Amino acid sequence: MVFLVLVLHLLGAAVWVGGHLVLSLTVLPGALRDRDPGPVLRFEKPFERIGIPALVVQVITGLWLADRYVPGILPALDFADRLHTIVAIKLLLLIATAITGAHARFWIIPRLTPQRMPALAVHVTVVTTMAVALLVLGVSVRYL
Ligand code: HEM
Repeated sequence: MVFLVLVLHLLGAAVWVGGHLVLSLTVLPGALRDRDPGPVLRFEKPFERIGIPALVVQVITGLWLADRYVPGILPALDFADRLHTIVAIKLLLLIATAITGAHARFWIIPRLTPQRMPALAVHVTVVTTMAVALLVLGVSVRYL
């Protein structure tokens, strides 16, 4: 069972982190250069269809995995040792990702104009950095 959950967690990570790296490093620079939101919007739409389910998989499998290390998960918020700290930071990054994502989806993207491209760039960079941090923290659980 742990094997299956870990495979799902890594598949979700591949989609979420990989998709955001492609967006940040290949799609966004061209769009910023041309001050054209089009390429980002064309990437976001189809990516959402697989990216959001991948994030949902990360939440379910991540909480399941975390519960094995810190039963009940919430006690991790005492930051008492390195394991608690990793789980707590992952939880906080998850909440920050959800808030940033909702802000982009309902505020930035509907009002996107060439002048507002920098706001979108900041958002994409923040979400990508948080995605990579979630991955690095996940790997570091085994290297405490
Ligand atoms: C986009 C979100 C996430 C990404 C990209 C991500 C990524 C990863 C990666 C790459 C690993 C390493 C797996 C391995 O060593 O085989 C991992 C492990 C882990 N993740 Fe996540 N994760 C995410 C969300 C979460 C959440 C929300 C939690 C819950 C607090 C969580 C808890 C864990 C735990 C406990 C492990 C250790 C599993 C083990 O080695 O037994 N993850 N994560």
